[in-house]
Amino acid sequence: MKTVTINTLYKLKQQGDKFPVITAYDAAFSRLIEQVGIEVVLVGDSLGNVIQGQDSTLPVTMEHMAYHVSAVRRGNSKSLIVADLPFMAYATEQQAMDNAARIMQAGAHVVKLEGGAWLARTVAMLTERGIPVCGHLGLTPQSVNKLGGYRVQGRDEAAAEQMINDAIALEKAGIDLLVLECVPATLAKTITEVLAAPVIGIGAGADTDAQVLVLYDMLGLSPHQLSFAKNFLAETGDVTAALNAYAEAVRTGLFPQSEQSF
Ligand code: KIV
Repeated sequence: MKTVTINTLYKLKQQGDKFPVITAYDAAFSRLIEQVGIEVVLVGDSLGNVIQGQDSTLPVTMEHMAYHVSAVRRGNSKSLIVADLPFMAYATEQQAMDNAARIMQAGAHVVKLEGGAWLARTVAMLTERGIPVCGHLGLTPQSVNKLGGYRVQGRDEAAAEQMINDAIALEKAGIDLLVLECVPATLAKTITEVLAAPVIGIGAGADTDAQVLVLYDMLGLSPHQLSFAKNFLAETGDVTAALNAYAEAVRTGLFPQSEQSF
């Protein structure tokens, strides 16, 4: 695999080629992901759940994120590394700037922020200063207490329209990638068509430009089997083969199926 950049991902979208994204938190898995040729690694704050055993992402700190980003970067010099800014690390524009700089210096290429149009000024400020930003709409786990649980978002017309407007506002502000988590497949399809930036889905149907899975979910290591995830290790019996099977299933449109969508 050639070194992946933001431009690579725009080109894939323009060509109609779907690409896989996977989370990772350490150098060993990151190395395997590079060997398999997966374009994007997400160092997600899901590490709070899957590595730390927390019941949400809220306890994850900048120290935790910087530690895991640097490990992932040391294992992989080809994939594009996207990293979450954790809960309350971008509550003000100054915090966003300081913490984004810190996570980039730890080895990330792109920072991910959860939220809608209220983040537009923050996104503009970061992108103007040379920091690519990935937005995250739909089920935003850092807001789980405000959302009243881990539920599908954008089901009614007003909420769907709001999400489309948020996506447009974020793109106008400068995002280069967008994650859509747990949204109806038809809504994800609309947002993917409206945006020039590549859209990465999880529980968002088959029509987004890319798919992301939490590594430990696709290896069957998480305590709960999520309806939108798939255990690729169960059908392959080997970690490298599981990563290959996931990448291939995304590229060929075989994952997700309707039973993994809303
Ligand atoms: O933290 C994470 O791993 C994520 C993905 C589930 C999209 O944000």
